[in-house]
Amino acid sequence: MEAGSFADVPQDLRKEIEQLETLFTVDTTKLKQITDHFVKELEKGLSVEGGSIPMNPTWVMSFPSGYETGTYLALDMGGTNLRVCQITLTEQKSEFDIIQSKYRMPEELKTGEADELWEYIADCLMQFLHNHHGDISKMEKLPLGFTFSYPATQNYVDEGVLQRWTKGFDIAGVEGHNVVPMFEAALARRGVPIKLSALINDTTGTLIASAYTDNKMKIGCIFGTGCNAAYMEDCGSIPKLAHLNLPPETPMAINCEWGAFDNEHKVLPRTPYDVIIDKDSPRPGQQAFEKMIAGLYLGEVFRLVMVDLHDNRETHIFPGQDVSKLRKAYTLDSSFLSAIEEDPFENLSETFDLFQSKLGIQPSGPELELIRRTAELIGTRAARLSACGVSAISIKKGYKTCHVGADGSVFNKYPHFKARGAQALREILDWPEKQDPGEDDPIEILAAEDGSGVGAALIAALTLERVKAGNM
Ligand code: GLC
Repeated sequence: MEAGSFADVPQDLRKEIEQLETLFTVDTTKLKQITDHFVKELEKGLSVEGGSIPMNPTWVMSFPSGYETGTYLALDMGGTNLRVCQITLTEQKSEFDIIQSKYRMPEELKTGEADELWEYIADCLMQFLHNHHGDISKMEKLPLGFTFSYPATQNYVDEGVLQRWTKGFDIAGVEGHNVVPMFEAALARRGVPIKLSALINDTTGTLIASAYTDNKMKIGCIFGTGCNAAYMEDCGSIPKLAHLNLPPETPMAINCEWGAFDNEHKVLPRTPYDVIIDKDSPRPGQQAFEKMIAGLYLGEVFRLVMVDLHDNRETHIFPGQDVSKLRKAYTLDSSFLSAIEEDPFENLSETFDLFQSKLGIQPSGPELELIRRTAELIGTRAARLSACGVSAISIKKGYKTCHVGADGSVFNKYPHFKARGAQALREILDWPEKQDPGEDDPIEILAAEDGSGVGAALIAALTLERVKAGNM
């Protein structure tokens, strides 16, 4: 079913749909206005005074040549999983071998005690080494790239002071502290033979891993549980690093932490639902942009719309039905929305089954149409707003053509996210219509290489090379 085929939808529901369309649609003019403001905020984040986007220097100071070699460990502390990899960068240009294990990241850890988190991570690493190396007491220390995907202040590549938790994490005693000593202490208690070489953001890993195999890659993005990007800046354009007197042309990867864009609510078209999400989150006032785009929140926006239409509107959807399950915050994740948008049937029978099995609700035919349209609106808004960030970096850097490496569940799995994002880029950057549908766009957002595995290993390798060369 395509948007706009609502012939059978009664007048009152159609009115609701129209109101939602008005709330959630971001037209070209608005996209451009957001992008203009975004460019200014990127600049501000690099200034001495700073702005709301942190623009964190990462001390990743070159792209890989493809000739890096050696064996490295990579640890990715994601929202749902903890992944440990061993990566061997081989003599063959841009070739690597990888072995990896995934461990579940228990939900309680995200809001538990700091010690429990570090102990759990250290246990997983130890188990990995036992499984792949046997007796670890005789092992040489392996260098590790630790992908810690939260905003962190770094004066060196192997430290990171957590600025604030994002993505629903809320562990006391970590914000404002360097996480590396806490992590290393847990390793030392177990005698795990690992030397942390670099603390990495997932976006920086994505940027570097993508550039390893494609030298047109200039920006690394994550559209997953959270939403963020990294790109390579020149030190001469980073006033807040001027006191270090680095040569102006020295490259420095910047982890933008653009999830914080517009925390002061100047330009994003927030709906009442976005306001509720923010208010009820562990960090109100933070990550305004991320809360409208990232996978962690898409299902929640949808749920809030449904609850509102049941409770407060004239229409009262799902009349007489028990909506208690729908009332539970964060019951629906973005895969629920993906499934609605993917429902291939004209009568939306899969959506009906989903609502029945997950929420105990049996939507009517017109309600199913409203549900589908709501999912489309939320998914489309996320993709279009994402394009503002990509456009802003491209404009700031003067990139007329480039590749953008993207990873994350929303990018990889959410239906139409890529096409909707590409369409928005076209509108923002005023590209002419394609002559031939097979033609590439000047700026293309493509699936990235594995940033928190290969990217982390490459960054560890680049760091060791730099240390050997005596450069910081
Ligand atoms: C959040 C984190 C950021 C990370 C992004 C994607 O925005 O603050 O560091 O890159 O999620 O995982």
